[in-house]
Amino acid sequence: MTEKTAMTDRNSAEQAYSDFTRSLSYGDYLHLNELRAAHQPITPAHDEHLFIAVHHVSEVWLGLIVRETQAAMRLLEQGITDAPLKMLTRVVRAQEQMTNAWEVLKTMTPSDYLEFRSAFGQASGFQSQNYRMVEFLLGNRNPVMLRPHAHRPDLHDPLKAVMEAPSVYDLALRLLAARGLNIPDTVLNRDYAQKYERDEAVVEAWLTVYRDTDTYWDLYELAEKLMDVEDNFRRWRFNHMTTVERTIGFKRGSGGTSGAGYLRQALNIVLFPELWEVRTRL
Ligand code: HEM
Repeated sequence: MTEKTAMTDRNSAEQAYSDFTRSLSYGDYLHLNELRAAHQPITPAHDEHLFIAVHHVSEVWLGLIVRETQAAMRLLEQGITDAPLKMLTRVVRAQEQMTNAWEVLKTMTPSDYLEFRSAFGQASGFQSQNYRMVEFLLGNRNPVMLRPHAHRPDLHDPLKAVMEAPSVYDLALRLLAARGLNIPDTVLNRDYAQKYERDEAVVEAWLTVYRDTDTYWDLYELAEKLMDVEDNFRRWRFNHMTTVERTIGFKRGSGGTSGAGYLRQALNIVLFPELWEVRTRL
């Protein structure tokens, strides 16, 4: 056998493992049967498949974002900043994937959507526990958002626990305080279940960081990473709002809100107000 033929043989698909009676196959490991079983259109409409697939994919990314953000927060709580930066970079990349998903969904026209819209009744992304978890972890908290989960303690209770604990931004501010920057006690010990309110002393603290990046390099990097996360969140919200408007116009949402009007208002949400204000003040 020439050297060339031997190489071709090793490259051949014939060499791949094919007996999975005693070891995990790809599909077994990933529980692909269950994944496929979850894809269940309830009408014959062609585009319902796309609609379900994009929601599923988005939920998987949201799950990853929750996990990475929580892991980053556990480390930030211990005063560690390098590994959280890597985790938050992963969050940023996952957000990009979610934002790109609108490109696929936008191929569905209003007529396509109307073929199956009535079938899913009051179901809406508004009731996504993963999405609320992300919002709560990042600090956008509102007890009203717990209501759609009241019938499911397994979804409601972890969400409530996150709503009542410090957000990623609260933990970043604790780090600033630990470095001797002036963060008022009213900010550090605030009622976490409430929406975060902008504070002048916090603006001053971030200004110190941005004016002396050599001394506060890791805090500066963390601040910019949080900016990336919020920037991407805004992009996702904007693309969702536009996709919704081009699909259903200003009809009421299946979840009961005004629809595109509600989503347009959500574009005003600011997660890390002082980080945005620093830009103007520098
Ligand atoms: C053409 C497809 C879509 C339409 C027409 C649509 C429509 C809407 C509407 C009208 C709302 C406002 C709440 C309501 O009353 O229902 C909403 C909220 C929401 N949707 Fe969608 N949506 C679409 C696709 C998606 C996809 C693919 C996701 C991915 C997970 C998603 C996630 C969400 C989330 C998380 C909310 C809550 C937003 C908030 O409270 O700020 N939607 N959607």
